[in-house]
Amino acid sequence: LQGLFVEPVLNGVSLLITAGPTQEALDPVRYLTNKSSGKMGYALAEQAVALGANVTLVSGPVSLAAPAGVKRISVESAADMHQAVMAEVEAHQVFIGCAAVADYRPVSAAEQKIKKSNAEMSLELVRNPDILADVAKHAKRPFTVGFAAETNDVETYARGKLERKNLDMIAANDVSKAGQGFNADTNALTVYWKDGERALAHGHKRQIARQLLQLIQSHLQSK
Ligand code: CTP
Ligand code: CA
Repeated sequence: LQGLFVEPVLNGVSLLITAGPTQEALDPVRYLTNKSSGKMGYALAEQAVALGANVTLVSGPVSLAAPAGVKRISVESAADMHQAVMAEVEAHQVFIGCAAVADYRPVSAAEQKIKKSNAEMSLELVRNPDILADVAKHAKRPFTVGFAAETNDVETYARGKLERKNLDMIAANDVSKAGQGFNADTNALTVYWKDGERALAHGHKRQIARQLLQLIQSHLQSK
């Protein structure tokens, strides 16, 4: 019967969450993207509402419906996501960067469909802005939480991102393991902050989301 009554521990707290992949256009009909389903970010948004929060979800293209009570802003590219997040950041106390943002985009998108020829073809890519790092640099910075998808040396890479991007917390995903991370309904995370860590054992993304939000809430209080 546990969980029938949920204490609204995030009452009055506003959360800004990014979710899903981004699409980086090559031409009007083609783009570069990744395997993100958006499930983890959407679970966070849904559970945050259940805990009483006001939630804005900036989402890349996914096949999921917006959870009830969530304000969703739909975007396609990393540049669009960056712009949407920066416009919202001041109005929120917590930011969770859960999106799988493309690190690179084609240097330009062709206005017309690219035609094939017999010559080889290569793509020139340029770096996208780092949304999470820019949120953490903001003068009125929210409590800033990142995700780290890693296939190896999980703690080292995750702590590196925590420090380099000046985050309050990072939730690391070992995406080399089956049944967690990209596209799965379940996940397992290890959450790191400056002087601590907490393992959130393998479970449905809904449960993992609830636990991560509770952890964030306990850190918000002691801030
Ligand atoms: N992120 C972001 N904007 C980007 C790239 C990443 O906001 N342009 C955020 C992601 O939403 C995630 C975190 O940064 O919260 C880490 O993403 P990840 O891809 O694991 O790390 P990167 O810093 O991009 O480094 P790399 O891909 O080289 O491991
Ligand atoms: Ca990346």
